Amino acid sequence: MTGPSSPSVLFDVRNKGAVVTGAASGLGFAIARVLARNGARVLLVDAVAETLDDATAELAGEGLAVRSRLADVRDRAVITQVMTEAAEWDGGLDILFANAGISSGLGRRFGNLVEDVDDQRWRDVLEVNLTGTLTTVRAGAARMNDGGRIIVTSSVAGLAPDPLVGYAYSSSKAAVTLFAQNVAAELAPRGINVNVLAPGSFLTPIGARNPDNGAMLAALTAATASGRMADPAEIEGTALLLASPAASHITGAVFVVDGGVLVARHAPAPAAPAAAQPEATPTAIT
Ligand SMILES: NC(=O)c1ccc[n+]([C@@H]2O[C@H](COP(=O)([O-])OP(=O)(O)OC[C@H]3O[C@@H](n4cnc5c(N)ncnc54)[C@H](O)[C@@H]3O)[C@@H](O)[C@H]2O)c1
Repeated sequence: MTGPSSPSVLFDVRNKGAVVTGAASGLGFAIARVLARNGARVLLVDAVAETLDDATAELAGEGLAVRSRLADVRDRAVITQVMTEAAEWDGGLDILFANAGISSGLGRRFGNLVEDVDDQRWRDVLEVNLTGTLTTVRAGAARMNDGGRIIVTSSVAGLAPDPLVGYAYSSSKAAVTLFAQNVAAELAPRGINVNVLAPGSFLTPIGARNPDNGAMLAALTAATASGRMADPAEIEGTALLLASPAASHITGAVFVVDGGVLVARHAPAPAAPAAAQPEATPTAIT
């Protein structure tokens, strides 16, 4: 099919300039790959040199238009340089994925209660996941072409209470969701759409693929309606949609890609034993 309604027009990111943070691994790598394979030039950003080099080499080996930049999203000066570089690369910056993130470990289901929250870990997670997102979006938005796309990676753990992940993580992800929605309202006059990706459970190193986390993997799998963890490639379709012309009227929205974690959470609870039922209030018969 060709013409205005064809996928090749709706999802056309050819010659668009993209930056993806946390691109050396997991979801960020899948996002960088789908953009590059569909013709975007992609600047991969990550704080880990070795994995960043490998990831970039893999995509460059496919003949794709990729560059890499070693940068920590906590470093405002460096992230500003990264966005300037992206803005100066051919047609400039059109697509920004603020995706880098870290975990705060296992949640209260695993005995990590609120009194156990470590101050330094709390600060680290907020610094990367929340302030790092601010740093990325602030520098990117200022240098982005009008009509661009910003996509922030949150989590289903930021949309509803989640006993499986740590307090700092879910708090940071709740905050980035609202941050992105506020930015969406501000940037709408420039035609820049800002949306939120809220993944469920993907097999990446951040948690589940960590060999020490067998119990976490089992619990995350059990929390899905689909009965399985997702492959990182399963983020590609939604990522491409949000980066593309097809998302022209989508802004401030949250895209859940979770294999039904949220709906499973809303499954009816088992009936309480009769003794636990509140006593029925007698109804006057008139
Ligand atoms: N995997 C999941 O199930 C899942 C679920 C919900 C949300 N997420 C979110 O998706 C995003 C990507 O996670 P992932 O699962 O691909 O994990 P991952 O660990 O595979 O990838 C995260 C990448 O971010 C990089 N990074 C970490 N801190 C950084 C920093 N300060 N500056 C620059 N880069 C940094 C890491 O080096 C790594 O390459 C994160 O924001 C994460 O919170 C993941």
